[in-house]
Amino acid sequence: MIQRKFFSLSLILSLLIFSSGLISKSFAKKQKETPSSSSSSSDNDPIPILNPLSEFFSETYPDDTLDFSVIGDWGFPGDNQTQTANAMRIYAERFNSKFIVNVGDSFYIGGIYTYDGVSNASDPKFNTIWKATYTGKLGEIPWYAVAGNHEWYNNVTAEVDYSRNKDARFFLPSLYYTRVSHVGPNKDKIAWIHIDTNPFYYTDIKKLKKKNKEMYDALVQQGWENDDSVENLLKWIESQLVAHQDAKWIFVIGHHPLVGDCQTVGKMSRLPPLFENYRVTAYFSGHNHALAYQQPSNSSSVAYFLSGAGSKVEDICEGRTWGAFKTGFVHVTISTNDDKADFQYVDASDPNKSGGVVAYSGTLKPHPFHSN
Ligand SMILES: *[C@@H]1O[C@H](CO)[C@@H](O)[C@H](O)[C@H]1NC(C)=O
Ligand SMILES: *[C@@H]1O[C@H](CO)[C@@H](O)[C@H](O)[C@H]1NC(C)=O
Ligand SMILES: *[C@@H]1O[C@H](CO)[C@@H](O)[C@H](O)[C@H]1NC(C)=O
Ligand SMILES: *[C@@H]1O[C@H](CO)[C@@H](O)[C@H](O)[C@H]1NC(C)=O
Ligand SMILES: *[C@@H]1O[C@H](CO)[C@@H](O)[C@H](O)[C@H]1NC(C)=O
Repeated sequence: MIQRKFFSLSLILSLLIFSSGLISKSFAKKQKETPSSSSSSSDNDPIPILNPLSEFFSETYPDDTLDFSVIGDWGFPGDNQTQTANAMRIYAERFNSKFIVNVGDSFYIGGIYTYDGVSNASDPKFNTIWKATYTGKLGEIPWYAVAGNHEWYNNVTAEVDYSRNKDARFFLPSLYYTRVSHVGPNKDKIAWIHIDTNPFYYTDIKKLKKKNKEMYDALVQQGWENDDSVENLLKWIESQLVAHQDAKWIFVIGHHPLVGDCQTVGKMSRLPPLFENYRVTAYFSGHNHALAYQQPSNSSSVAYFLSGAGSKVEDICEGRTWGAFKTGFVHVTISTNDDKADFQYVDASDPNKSGGVVAYSGTLKPHPFHSN
Protein backbone atom coordinates (compact mmCIF):
# COMPACT_ATOMS: atom_id res chain seq x y z
CA MET A 1 0.00 0.00 0.00
CA ILE A 2 2.75 2.41 1.02
CA GLN A 3 4.79 1.54 -2.03
CA ARG A 4 2.03 2.60 -4.36
CA LYS A 5 1.92 6.01 -2.81
CA PHE A 6 4.32 8.66 -3.88
CA PHE A 7 5.42 11.62 -1.88
CA SER A 8 5.95 15.04 -3.32
CA LEU A 9 9.07 16.34 -1.68
CA SER A 10 11.14 19.43 -1.53
CA LEU A 11 14.40 19.59 -3.42
CA ILE A 12 16.51 19.43 -0.29
CA LEU A 13 15.25 15.99 0.64
CA SER A 14 15.45 14.56 -2.82
CA LEU A 15 19.09 15.62 -2.84
CA LEU A 16 19.71 14.07 0.54
CA ILE A 17 17.97 10.80 0.00
CA PHE A 18 19.45 8.52 -2.57
CA SER A 19 18.19 5.56 -4.45
CA SER A 20 17.42 2.47 -2.46
CA GLY A 21 14.17 0.65 -2.84
CA LEU A 22 10.84 1.79 -4.12
CA ILE A 23 10.34 4.71 -1.78
CA SER A 24 13.62 6.30 -2.68
CA LYS A 25 12.87 5.91 -6.37
CA SER A 26 9.63 7.73 -5.83
CA PHE A 27 11.60 10.48 -4.10
CA ALA A 28 13.91 10.78 -7.06
CA LYS A 29 10.99 10.89 -9.44
CA LYS A 30 9.25 13.44 -7.24
CA GLN A 31 5.87 12.12 -8.17
CA LYS A 32 2.78 13.59 -6.67
CA GLU A 33 1.02 11.55 -4.03
CA THR A 34 -1.89 9.75 -5.58
CA PRO A 35 -4.84 9.27 -3.25
CA SER A 36 -5.80 5.61 -3.11
CA SER A 37 -8.99 6.01 -5.10
CA SER A 38 -8.88 2.34 -5.99
CA SER A 39 -8.81 1.36 -2.34
CA SER A 40 -12.04 -0.22 -1.22
CA SER A 41 -11.58 0.84 2.39
CA SER A 42 -13.58 4.02 2.48
CA ASP A 43 -12.00 5.48 5.59
CA ASN A 44 -11.70 9.23 5.65
CA ASP A 45 -8.06 8.99 6.66
CA PRO A 46 -6.14 8.24 3.49
CA ILE A 47 -2.70 8.42 5.10
CA PRO A 48 -1.74 5.07 6.63
CA ILE A 49 0.24 6.61 9.49
CA LEU A 50 0.19 3.39 11.45
CA ASN A 51 1.58 1.16 8.76
CA PRO A 52 5.28 1.08 9.50
CA LEU A 53 7.19 1.75 6.31
CA SER A 54 8.77 -1.41 4.97
CA GLU A 55 11.30 0.45 2.84
CA PHE A 56 14.00 2.52 4.48
CA PHE A 57 15.38 5.94 3.63
CA SER A 58 19.02 6.14 2.70
CA GLU A 59 21.46 9.05 3.12
CA THR A 60 25.15 9.46 2.29
CA TYR A 61 27.52 11.81 4.12
CA PRO A 62 31.03 11.96 2.63
CA ASP A 63 32.62 13.79 5.63
CA ASP A 64 34.29 11.59 8.21
CA THR A 65 32.15 13.10 10.98
CA LEU A 66 28.39 13.29 11.30
CA ASP A 67 26.99 16.02 13.50
CA PHE A 68 23.43 16.49 14.77
CA SER A 69 21.41 17.69 17.75
CA VAL A 70 18.48 16.10 19.55
CA ILE A 71 15.63 18.29 20.82
CA GLY A 72 12.23 17.51 22.27
CA ASP A 73 9.14 19.11 23.69
CA TRP A 74 10.04 22.35 22.00
CA GLY A 75 6.65 23.60 20.84
CA PHE A 76 5.86 26.03 23.64
CA PRO A 77 6.46 29.57 22.37
CA GLY A 78 8.35 32.01 24.57
CA ASP A 79 11.81 32.96 25.79
CA ASN A 80 12.73 29.41 26.78
CA GLN A 81 12.05 28.18 23.26
CA THR A 82 13.84 31.02 21.47
CA GLN A 83 16.89 30.85 23.74
CA THR A 84 17.20 27.11 23.21
CA ALA A 85 16.67 27.58 19.46
CA ASN A 86 19.40 30.19 19.37
CA ALA A 87 21.94 28.01 21.19
CA MET A 88 21.12 25.03 18.96
CA ARG A 89 21.52 27.21 15.86
CA ILE A 90 24.96 28.31 17.06
CA TYR A 91 25.98 24.65 17.51
CA ALA A 92 24.54 23.67 14.13
CA GLU A 93 26.46 26.44 12.40
CA ARG A 94 29.72 25.88 14.28
CA PHE A 95 29.73 22.11 13.74
CA ASN A 96 27.96 22.00 10.37
CA SER A 97 25.16 19.79 11.67
CA LYS A 98 23.49 17.65 9.04
CA PHE A 99 20.10 17.29 10.71
CA ILE A 100 18.06 17.62 13.88
CA VAL A 101 16.52 14.63 15.63
CA ASN A 102 13.09 15.79 16.84
CA VAL A 103 11.79 13.56 19.63
CA GLY A 104 8.28 15.03 19.50
CA ASP A 105 5.79 17.27 21.25
CA SER A 106 6.41 19.77 18.50
CA PHE A 107 3.33 21.93 19.09
CA TYR A 108 1.63 22.80 22.36
CA ILE A 109 -0.99 25.20 23.57
CA GLY A 110 0.83 28.46 24.05
CA GLY A 111 1.18 32.02 22.87
CA ILE A 112 -1.80 32.89 20.72
CA TYR A 113 -2.93 29.27 20.41
CA THR A 114 -5.69 27.64 22.42
CA TYR A 115 -5.23 24.13 21.08
CA ASP A 116 -2.58 21.40 21.27
CA GLY A 117 -0.70 19.86 18.36
CA VAL A 118 -1.86 21.00 14.94
CA SER A 119 -5.39 20.97 13.51
CA ASN A 120 -4.56 20.44 9.86
CA ALA A 121 -1.67 20.51 7.39
CA SER A 122 -2.16 24.27 6.84
CA ASP A 123 -1.99 25.07 10.53
CA PRO A 124 -0.09 28.36 11.06
CA LYS A 125 1.84 26.69 13.90
CA PHE A 126 4.16 25.08 11.33
CA ASN A 127 5.33 28.58 10.45
CA THR A 128 5.19 30.40 13.77
CA ILE A 129 6.37 27.72 16.19
CA TRP A 130 8.76 25.87 13.89
CA LYS A 131 10.02 27.81 10.85
CA ALA A 132 10.08 31.32 12.32
CA THR A 133 11.79 30.13 15.51
CA TYR A 134 14.47 27.76 14.19
CA THR A 135 16.27 29.95 11.70
CA GLY A 136 19.68 30.07 9.99
CA LYS A 137 21.17 26.61 9.61
CA LEU A 138 18.26 25.13 11.57
CA GLY A 139 15.97 26.31 8.80
CA GLU A 140 17.98 24.52 6.12
CA ILE A 141 18.54 21.01 7.46
CA PRO A 142 15.97 18.22 7.88
CA TRP A 143 14.27 17.57 11.21
CA TYR A 144 13.76 13.82 11.57
CA ALA A 145 10.66 13.57 13.74
CA VAL A 146 8.61 11.19 15.82
CA ALA A 147 5.18 11.87 17.31
CA GLY A 148 4.75 12.80 20.96
CA ASN A 149 1.56 12.62 22.97
CA HIS A 150 0.71 16.24 22.13
CA GLU A 151 0.65 15.31 18.45
CA TRP A 152 -2.12 12.85 19.29
CA TYR A 153 -4.09 15.39 21.32
CA ASN A 154 -5.05 16.98 18.05
CA ASN A 155 -4.44 15.82 14.46
CA VAL A 156 -1.32 13.66 14.26
CA THR A 157 -2.17 12.69 10.68
CA ALA A 158 -1.90 16.35 9.67
CA GLU A 159 1.78 16.35 10.64
CA VAL A 160 2.38 13.33 8.43
CA ASP A 161 0.41 15.04 5.67
CA TYR A 162 2.48 18.22 6.09
CA SER A 163 5.68 16.21 5.84
CA ARG A 164 4.57 14.31 2.76
CA ASN A 165 2.86 17.09 0.87
CA LYS A 166 4.06 20.46 2.11
CA ASP A 167 7.56 20.41 3.56
CA ALA A 168 9.53 17.18 3.89
CA ARG A 169 12.16 19.02 5.91
CA PHE A 170 9.75 18.32 8.75
CA PHE A 171 10.33 14.62 8.20
CA LEU A 172 7.53 12.39 9.46
CA PRO A 173 6.49 10.20 6.51
CA SER A 174 4.89 7.70 8.89
CA LEU A 175 4.86 7.18 12.65
CA TYR A 176 7.31 4.28 12.17
CA TYR A 177 10.20 4.51 9.72
CA THR A 178 13.87 3.64 9.39
CA ARG A 179 16.74 5.62 7.96
CA VAL A 180 20.18 4.38 7.05
CA SER A 181 23.19 6.70 6.85
CA HIS A 182 26.51 5.90 5.20
CA VAL A 183 29.21 8.11 6.66
CA GLY A 184 32.80 8.83 5.69
CA PRO A 185 35.20 7.25 3.22
CA ASN A 186 34.39 3.74 4.46
CA LYS A 187 30.66 4.35 4.34
CA ASP A 188 30.15 3.37 7.98
CA LYS A 189 26.55 2.32 8.32
CA ILE A 190 24.25 3.91 10.91
CA ALA A 191 20.65 2.75 11.35
CA TRP A 192 18.02 5.06 12.83
CA ILE A 193 14.73 3.51 13.83
CA HIS A 194 12.00 6.08 14.48
CA ILE A 195 9.06 4.86 16.54
CA ASP A 196 5.85 6.19 18.03
CA THR A 197 5.95 5.14 21.68
CA ASN A 198 2.41 6.35 22.49
CA PRO A 199 0.85 2.86 22.13
CA PHE A 200 3.50 1.43 24.49
CA TYR A 201 3.15 4.17 27.08
CA TYR A 202 -0.64 4.60 27.27
CA THR A 203 -1.69 1.01 27.80
CA ASP A 204 -4.32 1.77 30.42
CA ILE A 205 -6.95 2.66 27.87
CA LYS A 206 -9.69 3.22 30.49
CA LYS A 207 -7.57 5.72 32.34
CA LEU A 208 -6.73 7.43 29.08
CA LYS A 209 -10.42 7.66 28.18
CA LYS A 210 -11.05 9.49 31.46
CA LYS A 211 -7.96 11.66 31.41
CA ASN A 212 -7.62 12.45 27.77
CA LYS A 213 -10.59 11.80 25.59
CA GLU A 214 -9.09 13.34 22.42
CA MET A 215 -6.13 11.03 22.51
CA TYR A 216 -8.28 8.05 23.39
CA ASP A 217 -10.59 8.74 20.44
CA ALA A 218 -7.67 9.20 18.05
CA LEU A 219 -6.00 5.98 19.21
CA VAL A 220 -9.20 3.99 18.93
CA GLN A 221 -9.88 5.43 15.49
CA GLN A 222 -6.47 4.15 14.44
CA GLY A 223 -7.20 0.71 15.84
CA TRP A 224 -4.83 0.79 18.76
CA GLU A 225 -7.23 -0.38 21.42
CA ASN A 226 -6.02 -3.95 21.36
CA ASP A 227 -2.88 -5.76 22.38
CA ASP A 228 -2.35 -7.27 18.94
CA SER A 229 -1.61 -3.93 17.36
CA VAL A 230 0.99 -3.25 20.05
CA GLU A 231 2.55 -6.68 19.49
CA ASN A 232 2.67 -6.05 15.75
CA LEU A 233 4.47 -2.77 16.30
CA LEU A 234 7.00 -4.49 18.57
CA LYS A 235 7.48 -7.12 15.85
CA TRP A 236 8.15 -4.39 13.31
CA ILE A 237 10.76 -2.81 15.60
CA GLU A 238 12.44 -6.19 16.04
CA SER A 239 12.35 -6.81 12.28
CA GLN A 240 14.14 -3.50 11.70
CA LEU A 241 16.76 -4.31 14.32
CA VAL A 242 17.32 -7.72 12.73
CA ALA A 243 17.52 -6.24 9.23
CA HIS A 244 20.16 -3.70 10.25
CA GLN A 245 22.48 -5.81 12.40
CA ASP A 246 25.23 -4.99 9.90
CA ALA A 247 25.16 -1.33 11.02
CA LYS A 248 28.05 -0.11 13.11
CA TRP A 249 25.76 2.20 15.08
CA ILE A 250 22.09 1.60 15.80
CA PHE A 251 19.98 4.39 17.27
CA VAL A 252 16.31 4.25 18.23
CA ILE A 253 14.26 7.44 18.51
CA GLY A 254 10.96 7.71 20.36
CA HIS A 255 9.08 10.26 22.39
CA HIS A 256 8.74 8.56 25.78
CA PRO A 257 11.83 8.07 27.94
CA LEU A 258 13.53 4.88 29.10
CA VAL A 259 15.85 6.50 31.62
CA GLY A 260 15.79 4.73 35.02
CA ASP A 261 12.28 4.41 36.48
CA CYS A 262 10.70 5.63 33.28
CA GLN A 263 11.40 2.17 31.81
CA THR A 264 8.57 0.70 33.84
CA VAL A 265 5.64 2.66 32.38
CA GLY A 266 3.11 0.49 30.50
CA LYS A 267 4.72 -1.60 27.78
CA MET A 268 7.75 0.66 27.52
CA SER A 269 9.47 -2.12 29.49
CA ARG A 270 9.28 -4.32 26.39
CA LEU A 271 11.73 -2.11 24.53
CA PRO A 272 15.00 -2.34 26.53
CA PRO A 273 15.33 -6.14 26.17
CA LEU A 274 15.05 -5.73 22.38
CA PHE A 275 17.60 -2.94 22.42
CA GLU A 276 20.02 -5.01 24.53
CA ASN A 277 19.62 -8.02 22.33
CA TYR A 278 20.17 -6.22 19.03
CA ARG A 279 23.17 -3.98 19.67
CA VAL A 280 21.32 -0.68 20.01
CA THR A 281 23.88 1.98 20.91
CA ALA A 282 21.50 4.59 22.24
CA TYR A 283 17.87 5.53 22.59
CA PHE A 284 16.91 9.20 22.27
CA SER A 285 13.70 10.48 23.87
CA GLY A 286 11.87 13.44 25.37
CA HIS A 287 8.49 13.73 27.11
CA ASN A 288 9.80 14.51 30.58
CA HIS A 289 10.79 18.15 30.52
CA ALA A 290 14.38 17.96 31.61
CA LEU A 291 17.80 16.84 30.44
CA ALA A 292 18.90 13.43 31.70
CA TYR A 293 21.22 10.58 30.86
CA GLN A 294 21.54 6.96 31.86
CA GLN A 295 24.89 5.55 30.92
CA PRO A 296 25.52 1.94 29.88
CA SER A 297 26.32 -0.35 32.80
CA ASN A 298 27.13 -3.97 33.46
CA SER A 299 23.46 -4.81 33.22
CA SER A 300 22.65 -2.61 30.21
CA SER A 301 24.68 -1.90 27.10
CA VAL A 302 22.36 0.87 25.91
CA ALA A 303 22.81 4.61 26.54
CA TYR A 304 19.47 6.29 27.31
CA PHE A 305 19.07 9.98 26.53
CA LEU A 306 16.31 12.28 27.72
CA SER A 307 16.18 15.58 25.83
CA GLY A 308 12.75 16.94 26.60
CA ALA A 309 13.68 20.49 27.55
CA GLY A 310 13.27 22.39 24.28
CA SER A 311 10.81 24.89 25.75
CA LYS A 312 9.88 23.97 29.33
CA VAL A 313 11.31 22.33 32.42
CA GLU A 314 9.09 20.29 34.71
CA ASP A 315 9.74 16.65 35.48
CA ILE A 316 12.51 14.07 35.18
CA CYS A 317 13.06 10.29 35.42
CA GLU A 318 14.53 8.91 38.65
CA GLY A 319 17.42 6.46 38.68
CA ARG A 320 19.46 8.38 36.15
CA THR A 321 23.23 8.80 35.92
CA TRP A 322 22.87 12.56 35.46
CA GLY A 323 20.04 15.06 35.08
CA ALA A 324 19.19 18.75 35.21
CA PHE A 325 16.08 20.90 35.19
CA LYS A 326 17.40 23.19 32.50
CA THR A 327 16.09 24.09 29.07
CA GLY A 328 18.43 22.83 26.36
CA PHE A 329 19.25 20.00 23.97
CA VAL A 330 21.76 17.25 23.22
CA HIS A 331 24.52 17.72 20.65
CA VAL A 332 26.27 14.67 19.11
CA THR A 333 29.27 14.23 16.82
CA ILE A 334 30.02 10.80 15.40
CA SER A 335 33.62 10.42 14.28
CA THR A 336 34.26 7.59 11.84
CA ASN A 337 38.05 7.94 12.19
CA ASP A 338 37.93 7.23 15.91
CA ASP A 339 34.81 5.07 16.01
CA LYS A 340 33.25 7.20 18.71
CA ALA A 341 30.35 9.53 19.32
CA ASP A 342 30.96 12.51 21.58
CA PHE A 343 27.90 14.10 23.10
CA GLN A 344 27.15 17.18 25.18
CA TYR A 345 24.04 18.20 27.05
CA VAL A 346 23.75 21.92 26.37
CA ASP A 347 22.04 24.05 29.02
CA ALA A 348 20.54 27.01 27.16
CA SER A 349 18.71 28.54 30.13
CA ASP A 350 21.04 31.48 30.84
CA PRO A 351 19.98 34.41 28.66
CA ASN A 352 23.43 35.93 29.04
CA LYS A 353 25.13 32.90 27.49
CA SER A 354 23.58 32.76 24.06
CA GLY A 355 25.63 29.76 22.95
CA GLY A 356 24.55 27.72 25.97
CA VAL A 357 26.75 25.96 28.53
CA VAL A 358 27.85 22.31 28.43
CA ALA A 359 26.19 20.76 31.47
CA TYR A 360 27.28 17.15 30.93
CA SER A 361 29.28 15.31 28.29
CA GLY A 362 30.38 11.82 27.39
CA THR A 363 31.50 9.45 24.67
CA LEU A 364 29.80 6.42 23.15
CA LYS A 365 31.47 3.52 21.37
CA PRO A 366 29.73 1.28 18.85
CA HIS A 367 28.85 -2.20 20.11
CA PRO A 368 30.82 -5.12 18.67
CA PHE A 369 29.06 -7.24 16.09
CA HIS A 370 27.61 -10.49 17.38
CA SER A 371 29.96 -13.38 16.77
CA ASN A 372 28.34 -16.70 16.01
C1 LIG B 1 -6.61 24.66 9.98
O1 LIG B 1 -6.52 24.84 11.37
C2 LIG B 1 -6.46 26.20 11.77
C3 LIG B 1 -6.21 26.23 13.25
O2 LIG B 1 -7.19 25.51 13.96
C4 LIG B 1 -7.76 26.89 11.36
O3 LIG B 1 -7.71 28.26 11.73
C5 LIG B 1 -7.96 26.76 9.87
O4 LIG B 1 -9.22 27.27 9.52
C6 LIG B 1 -7.86 25.31 9.44
N1 LIG B 1 -7.83 25.24 7.99
C7 LIG B 1 -8.51 24.36 7.31
C8 LIG B 1 -8.32 24.41 5.83
O5 LIG B 1 -9.26 23.57 7.86
C1 LIG C 1 -6.57 15.87 10.04
O1 LIG C 1 -5.58 15.90 9.04
C2 LIG C 1 -5.86 15.07 7.93
C3 LIG C 1 -4.63 15.08 7.03
O2 LIG C 1 -4.27 16.37 6.67
C4 LIG C 1 -7.10 15.61 7.23
O3 LIG C 1 -7.40 14.77 6.14
C5 LIG C 1 -8.25 15.65 8.21
O4 LIG C 1 -9.35 16.27 7.62
C6 LIG C 1 -7.87 16.42 9.46
N1 LIG C 1 -8.93 16.29 10.46
C7 LIG C 1 -9.65 17.31 10.85
C8 LIG C 1 -10.69 17.02 11.88
O5 LIG C 1 -9.48 18.45 10.40
C1 LIG D 1 30.91 -4.38 36.43
O1 LIG D 1 31.79 -5.31 35.83
C2 LIG D 1 33.15 -5.08 36.17
C3 LIG D 1 34.01 -6.03 35.33
O2 LIG D 1 33.46 -7.33 35.31
C4 LIG D 1 33.34 -5.26 37.66
O3 LIG D 1 34.70 -5.00 38.01
C5 LIG D 1 32.43 -4.27 38.40
O4 LIG D 1 32.51 -4.47 39.78
C6 LIG D 1 30.99 -4.43 37.95
N1 LIG D 1 30.19 -3.37 38.53
C7 LIG D 1 29.04 -3.59 39.13
C8 LIG D 1 28.34 -2.38 39.66
O5 LIG D 1 28.56 -4.70 39.26
C1 LIG E 1 11.61 28.52 31.41
O1 LIG E 1 12.74 27.84 31.92
C2 LIG E 1 13.04 28.15 33.27
C3 LIG E 1 14.28 27.38 33.67
O2 LIG E 1 15.20 27.24 32.65
C4 LIG E 1 11.86 27.81 34.15
O3 LIG E 1 12.12 28.22 35.46
C5 LIG E 1 10.59 28.45 33.64
O4 LIG E 1 9.48 27.97 34.37
C6 LIG E 1 10.38 28.13 32.19
N1 LIG E 1 9.22 28.78 31.68
C7 LIG E 1 8.20 28.11 31.24
C8 LIG E 1 7.08 28.95 30.73
O5 LIG E 1 8.14 26.89 31.21
C1 LIG F 1 22.48 38.74 32.81
O1 LIG F 1 23.21 39.94 32.79
C2 LIG F 1 22.53 41.02 33.41
C3 LIG F 1 23.37 42.27 33.18
O2 LIG F 1 24.71 42.03 33.44
C4 LIG F 1 22.35 40.71 34.88
O3 LIG F 1 21.66 41.76 35.53
C5 LIG F 1 21.55 39.43 35.03
O4 LIG F 1 21.44 39.05 36.39
C6 LIG F 1 22.21 38.30 34.25
N1 LIG F 1 21.33 37.14 34.25
C7 LIG F 1 21.73 35.95 34.66
C8 LIG F 1 20.71 34.85 34.59
O5 LIG F 1 22.86 35.70 35.04
